[in-house]
This record gives sequence, structure tokens and C-alpha cells, in this order.
Amino acid sequence: MVRICSFLFIFLCLLGYGGLAKGFSGLAVNWGLQSTHPLPPDIVVRLLKDNGFNKVKLFEADPGALRALGRSGIQVMVGIPNDMLASLASAVANAEAWVQQNVSNYISNHGTDIRSVAIGNEPFLQDYKDQFVNTIFPALENIQAALIKAGLGKQVKATIPLNADVYRTDSGLPSGGYFRPELQNLMMNIIKFLQDNGGFLTINIYPFLSLQADPNFPKEYAFFNNTASPLFDGSVVYTNVYDANFDTLISALEKNGFGRMPVVVGEVGWPTDGDASANIDNAKRFTQALVDRIVQGQGSPRRRTPPDVYIFSLVDEDHKSTLPGNFERHWGIFKYDGSIKYPLDMGNGRAIVPAKGVKYLAKQWCVMSPSAGVSDPNTLAQSITYACENGDCTSLGYGSSCGNLDAQSNASYAFNTYFQTMNQSKDACSFNNLAVITTVDPSKPPCRFEIMIDTRKQKASPSVYRSSAAKIEGIFAALILGIVGSFI
Ligand SMILES: *[C@@H]1O[C@H](CO)[C@@H](O)[C@H](O)[C@H]1NC(C)=O
Ligand SMILES: *[C@@H]1O[C@H](CO)[C@@H](O)[C@H](O)[C@H]1NC(C)=O
Ligand SMILES: *[C@@H]1O[C@H](CO)[C@@H](O)[C@H](O)[C@H]1NC(C)=O
Ligand SMILES: *[C@@H]1O[C@H](CO)[C@@H](O)[C@H](O)[C@H]1NC(C)=O
Repeated sequence: MVRICSFLFIFLCLLGYGGLAKGFSGLAVNWGLQSTHPLPPDIVVRLLKDNGFNKVKLFEADPGALRALGRSGIQVMVGIPNDMLASLASAVANAEAWVQQNVSNYISNHGTDIRSVAIGNEPFLQDYKDQFVNTIFPALENIQAALIKAGLGKQVKATIPLNADVYRTDSGLPSGGYFRPELQNLMMNIIKFLQDNGGFLTINIYPFLSLQADPNFPKEYAFFNNTASPLFDGSVVYTNVYDANFDTLISALEKNGFGRMPVVVGEVGWPTDGDASANIDNAKRFTQALVDRIVQGQGSPRRRTPPDVYIFSLVDEDHKSTLPGNFERHWGIFKYDGSIKYPLDMGNGRAIVPAKGVKYLAKQWCVMSPSAGVSDPNTLAQSITYACENGDCTSLGYGSSCGNLDAQSNASYAFNTYFQTMNQSKDACSFNNLAVITTVDPSKPPCRFEIMIDTRKQKASPSVYRSSAAKIEGIFAALILGIVGSFI
């Protein structure tokens, strides 16, 4: 359709495209809470609305988030973490209590528009070594029964977010898609059950990981644009790995008689830091192309009806595990404070806008003292290690935004991230007199020395940051007690 547009008619063609997008009602996004200083939920809800998000996915039934989403007009998918599956699988009464407390309660008492429950998160990930294989289906059955008992059987749908590694294709072609043989029977039970109860399948797709894991991966194929050497699958042409991956699932479903099973993309995005291919340019390019597809109502070659697509993710989370890589803390289309990382057209020319009303700690940083003679390089190394273990040094690695700092600035960066994480407590900028507080911004673009947000001044719900803050308080206590104090 686009190809036959001459320059003169581009405008009309765009209008034609706009016609395709008539069903477009808004964007969907994942809101993760694994931050040492999460943004107050009311600020986040405003951020969502200001940017045209009308669907949000939570990884847990966070009370602060669910309350703030009440009567917001935003539809909610609420997640159940894997570590709750065993208990929910063991007794339907546990599932009933969960639904009562974490779903019914918010719908009736807060007007939260909960539309679905995501049971577990990528439970079949090969790293989990079958841990959840026996509990995921009974947990699904119990939650579904509990939803029906609560009178929510129609309103709230069940789903299981899966990693794309539940299916594969030997030919490398989407049409060859099949489910991992060891999961085939279980997947059939799950899919049939979801279908019988009006639920849907959720799949997470990560073109970034394809590119990151394989230096020979064709870059344009990750960015929706391998028009130069596309993949031919019979008469179907694939110019991007996202469609090819999605259609591999669709063909696996078709082969098993579930060709009409509804599928939602639960996570897809591009990180901006912490890896050589995780940078602003790549993230902007990928995310803009993704948003454009969503706005235009584009489906895949095998399924023309566009799926719901939850972008991963809303904001950076400085408390996520870095096991998968340093990029893990940088998936946000916004920074930790809701500020904009890169310009983005959110649809129909509407520019992305930052969070409003965010309060910050004082304009000061902790840096390595210019006069600190390093008599003991061990002390310095230990101090940096300690600061990085408790702060966030994921921007310091090779190819990252702060990967080019000299040794002194490198130490400063580590000290500052710890200082900010500790709410700029004076004691957190000592490091055996190696560090001092400064009011001169030490940032060296593109490397930013951040100032933490002040969660005290805002009317946030304390429940949101309780868990991570408690851990840091524990670390702080250990520090005061001298357990790790030898180099403080
Ligand atoms: C949800 O409900 C259960 C009760 O079964 C409760 O134990 C749990 O803490 C609640 N909250 C979350 C975030 O799951
Ligand atoms: C896609 O690739 C073509 C060349 O193959 C290039 O001209 C075009 O600008 C690219 N588009 C995007 C959005 O990257
Ligand atoms: C900077 O700090 C990081 C994290 O401790 C370390 O891996 C890196 O080697 C350091 N670079 C320099 C130039 O000191
Ligand atoms: C930082 O301040 C917030 C808000 O008062 C608090 O909840 C949190 O525990 C503090 N963090 C640390 C590490 O002291």
C-alpha cells in the first residue's frame, strides 16, 4: 500500500493509513517497581495518561499502584509472581483469598479497571529448570475458579506470560513453529483451558536479546527494516524478527488446532544503557518503529489483526537483578525520574511528555576527593566495589554511557550512585575520606551523575517502596554496625 505512494500522494496515503488505525485507542506499557526510589504512583498514573497509555501491566498486585489506577480510565493487567504459584496451586482457597484481596477489593473499593490476571512470569524459562512446571497449570485453574466464584469470570481474563523459548522452528522459518516437545502436552492443556474460559496467551519478544547475543545477527532485521535481504517463508516475506517470532507462535498454534487463540505481546522494548547495543539511538529507532506499528494497527503476516502490545518498559529500575546483563536496569522509555530519554511520537504527532511534579534531593553530588592521595589502592578498589554493590554502576561498563570515564571520575561515579541511593546521607559520602560532597555537577556527557528523587516530600503511598527500602536500611544498619565498615 505504501509502496505505491508517490511523493505527491504521501499525504493522502497517510490519511489512508490513519483509516487503518481507527481502532487505535491508546498504548500499553509495563510498569515495574523494582527501584530503590520508585516514582510516587499518582505521578506515574498522570504520566501514563499524559502519554496516551490506556493499558498497563503490573508484575505484582502492588497496593499503591492499584489504588492510584482507580478511576483513571486505564485498564490493568495484574501479575502474580512465580514464587506465589506453589501456594496458589495447592488450594483453591488460597486463590480465592488472592483474588478477593488483590482483584475484587480494588475493583469494588477503588474503581480499578482490572481486566486480566497474568499468572506467573515466563514460568518455563529454561533457567528455572522446571521449577514451575507442576504448579503453573493448577495455579491457573484455581485462579480461574476463584475469578468465577467472585463473579468476575467474564470481566477479568486469565493469561500466562511466556518467554518466546516455549516454541521453536528447526527450519528457521516461522511456518515451522512448534512447541518445545517436553512442554507440548502442558501447553495444550493450558491453551485449551484459557480458550474455554475466554482467556488469552501472552508472549514476550526481545529483538534486542537476539542482537545482543549474536554479533552476526542482521541489525536491520532487529529494527523492522531488513528490506534489503528479507526472510522468505513460502510466499510470506519477513523484514523483521519481531513478526517472524510472533508468527512462529501463531503457526505452532495453528498446527495444534488453536489458530484463533488470542495472543497478546506482554513485553517488547529496547534498553538504553548497560551494553554496546543498548543505547539511545537504537532504543529510539526500535521504539518509534514499534509505536508506529501499534498506532497504524499493524498485525503480522500470519495474523493481520493487531495484538495488544505492552511496551517494556515505562521507567528504569535501579534495583533489578543484573544477572541477564547491565542493560536490565535501563529498559524504560523514561528515566528513573520520569524524565524523557529520547523524543518519541506517541501517535498522530503527539510528542512524549515527562512526569510532572517530581521532587529531587538537594543539588549535590559525592565525588572522589581531589586531594585524596591514594596511599592504599586496595581501599579505593574495595570502596568502589562496595558503592557499586549497593548503588547502581550499570552505566560504567564497556560501551555504556559512562564507559569512557578516567579512573578518578569512575570512582566518583560509584561514590555518587551510592550517596544518592542512600538519600544523600552525609555518612554515605565518606569512604575513608576518599570522597567529598560537591555542588558542582560532575557529569561528563553522555555520562550523567544523577540526583535521586525525594520520595519524602511527595504524597506517595509508602507501601510501594517498602520492600526495597527495607533492604537498603538493612545494608545501612550493617554499615553502621561496622560489619562492612573496614573501609568506610
Ligand atoms: C494478595 O493476596 C494475598 C492473600 O492471598 C496476600 O497474601 C498477598 O500479599 C496479596 N498481595 C500481593 C501483592 O500479592
Ligand atoms: C530502512 O532501510 C532502508 C534501506 O534499506 C532505508 O532507506 C530506510 O531509511 C530505513 N528505514 C528506517 C526506518 O530505518
Ligand atoms: C570503573 O569502575 C568499574 C566498576 O567498578 C570497573 O569495572 C572499571 O574497570 C573501572 N574503570 C576504570 C577506568 O577505572
Ligand atoms: C530514603 O528516603 C525514603 C523516603 O523517606 C525512605 O523511604 C527510604 O527508606 C530512604 N532510603 C534509605 C536508604 O535511607
